[in-house]
Amino acid sequence: MTEYQLIEADETVYRDGTIKLHGPEGFEGMRRAGQLAASILDDIATMIEPGVTTAAIDDRVRELTLAGGAVPATMGYRGYAHSCCISINHVICHGIPSDKALKDGDIVNVDVTPLLDGWHGDTSRMFFVGDVALKAKRLVDVTYECLMLGIEAAQPGARLGDIGAAIEAHARQFRYGVVREFCGHGLGRLFHDAPEVIHASQAGTGPELKPGMFFTIEPMINLGKPHAKVLSDGWTAVTRDKSLSAQFEHSIGITETGNEIFTASPKGLHQPPY
Ligand code: MF3
Ligand code: CO
Ligand code: CO
Repeated sequence: MTEYQLIEADETVYRDGTIKLHGPEGFEGMRRAGQLAASILDDIATMIEPGVTTAAIDDRVRELTLAGGAVPATMGYRGYAHSCCISINHVICHGIPSDKALKDGDIVNVDVTPLLDGWHGDTSRMFFVGDVALKAKRLVDVTYECLMLGIEAAQPGARLGDIGAAIEAHARQFRYGVVREFCGHGLGRLFHDAPEVIHASQAGTGPELKPGMFFTIEPMINLGKPHAKVLSDGWTAVTRDKSLSAQFEHSIGITETGNEIFTASPKGLHQPPY
C-alpha cells in the first residue's frame, strides 16, 4: 500500500517512505530552485570545450549556486565533497570532478542540485565536446527523447510504472540498455525521497500519480548492455561493457491537468548542440 502525506508550508519532512503531496508554496519553491539549477547548466554550456577540467566546471557550478543564494546539495551529501557530478563517456552517473580535462569527441553529463530556500532543484544535461561521432550523438538524442516521453507519461491518474514503460519502449527500438541500478526519486525539501522512479518498468503498475507529487526522471541509457558497476572510489558508476552512456534529468511536479517541469532551460538550451 502506498501512503501519501499532505505537506503544509514550512513543515519539517522526513524520509519515512510516504509520497509527499505539495501545495502552491511547494510549487513556488521548486520553480525557483529548478530555474536556478537550469540557469546554471545554461551557463556551463558556454564553457564546455576540449581542455577544460571537470574541476573547473565544478568550481563554476559552486560559484553560480552560491551567487544564486543556494548551496550545492551534493556537498557533504553522504561524504560527497563536490558541487556537481560530471560523467564522461562510459561513466553512467556520479562522476567525481577532478583535474581530468575534457577532450575532443567526449560526451559529458553535468548534474547539478542547488538547495534554495529549503527546496532542491535537480537537473542534468549532456554536452558535446568538439566533434562528436554520429553514434554518440544519436545515443544522446534518444536519451533526451526518453526523458521527454517519460515526462509525457507522468500524468495525474497514471501509474508510476507508466513512466519507465514509455522510456524503455523507446530505448528498446534502438537496442540501447536502460540502467536499472540507479533511479529517479521524489524530492522537494528532501534531496532523495520516495518514490523510486525506475526507468524500465511495466505500464499500469506502481502507485498512482497525484497532483502535488514532486520527483525527478533521469534515464541513463547505454549504447550497449544495461549493466553498471561502481568504481573503488565508491561513487563513479560505469557501464560494465565500457559502452557509452547518456543521461538527462528534470525535476517535475504533477498538476491537476498534467505536469510542470521545474528545471526547463530559461534559454531553451534543452539538448545539444547548444
Ligand atoms: N544529482 C544526483 C541525482 O540526480 C545525485 C548526486 S548525489 C552525489 O540524484 F552525492 F553523488 F552528488
Ligand atoms: Co536526481
Ligand atoms: Co541529479
